Amino acid sequence: MREHTSTGFVLITGASGGFGLEFSRQLEARGYSLLLHGRDRPRLQLTLDAMHHPDRHRLILADLNAKAGLADLLAGTAHTPLTGLVNNAGFGIWGSFEQTGIVPQIDVIKTDLKAPIALTHALLPTLLKQNGFIINVSSLAGVSPLPYMSTYAAAKAGLTFWSEALRTELAGRIRVVTLAPGPSPTGFRDVSGMPDGTGSFFRTPIAKIISASLATLDHGGGYCVPGWRHRLLYTLQKITPAGLALRIMSKQLRP
Ligand SMILES: NC(=O)c1ccc[n+]([C@@H]2O[C@H](COP(=O)([O-])OP(=O)(O)OC[C@H]3O[C@@H](n4cnc5c(N)ncnc54)[C@H](OP(=O)(O)O)[C@@H]3O)[C@@H](O)[C@H]2O)c1
Repeated sequence: MREHTSTGFVLITGASGGFGLEFSRQLEARGYSLLLHGRDRPRLQLTLDAMHHPDRHRLILADLNAKAGLADLLAGTAHTPLTGLVNNAGFGIWGSFEQTGIVPQIDVIKTDLKAPIALTHALLPTLLKQNGFIINVSSLAGVSPLPYMSTYAAAKAGLTFWSEALRTELAGRIRVVTLAPGPSPTGFRDVSGMPDGTGSFFRTPIAKIISASLATLDHGGGYCVPGWRHRLLYTLQKITPAGLALRIMSKQLRP
C-alpha cells in the first residue's frame, strides 16, 4: 500500500457530516492539518472530536447562504498557507420548481456553485504557491437534467463544467479533481426531502467515494466517478437518449 505523509493545511467546506467528515478522516491520515468549515458548531465539533489529532485542526463557522458567509470563511483562512481546498459543502431540494420557494432554490446556487467558484478564485494564489490541489464535489446530478431537482442539477452541471475547464487551464500547475458521485448514504437525502427508495441500488459507501477521489488526486487529478455502481449509473446516463432519460427521471422523482 502507498504511504502518504503530507504536510500543509487543507480547507474542507461542509465538514460537519457526510462526505466532509470522511474527507477529514482520510486527509488527516495523510498528515494534513485541517481547516474544518461548517455552519453548526456542535456538529462541526463532532468532526473535530472524531480526529486523531484534534489539536492540529481548526474550525471555521460560516453560512454560505448568508450575505457575509464567504467573507467569514475567507477571514478564517487568512494567514494560512493552504495546500488544498475541498469544495464540498452543498445541498439540494427535491420538489417541483413551481411549488418550491425561490429563496431556497437560489440558496442552492449560492452554496453549490457560487461559493466554490468565489472561494477558489480568492484562494488560488496561495494554492498555486504551495503547488497544491482542489477537489470540487460535484455530482452525477450534473450529467443530465433532473426534473423535480432542477435547480440542484443546474448547479452541479455548472460546477462540473467550471471545474473541468479549470482543471485544463491549470494543468501542470495545480491538481484538480472533479468528483461526481451518485446516490450516497449521507445527510443529503434528509436535507433534500427526497424519499429513501429513489436510486438506492446505486448507493455507494462514503469511504470508497472519498478514497477514489484521493486516488484520482494521486494520479494528477481528473474527473472521478467513484465505485462500480456510480460508474454504471454514469454509463446509463451517457447512453440513454436525452428524451427517454428525462421521462425516466421524471417518473422516478415526481413527488
Ligand atoms: N449524498 C449524495 O447522494 C451526494 C451525491 C452526489 C453529490 N453530493 C454532494 O456532496 C456534497 C456533500 O454533501 P453530503 O452528501 O455529505 O451531505 P450532508 O451530509 O448533508 O453534508 C452537507 C454539508 O454541507 C454543509 N452545508 C450545506 N449548506 C451549507 C451552507 N449554506 N453553508 C455552509 N455549509 C453548508 C452542511 O453543513 P450543515 O451541517 O451546517 O448543514 C454539511 O456539512 C454536496 O456538495 C452534495 O451536493 C452528495
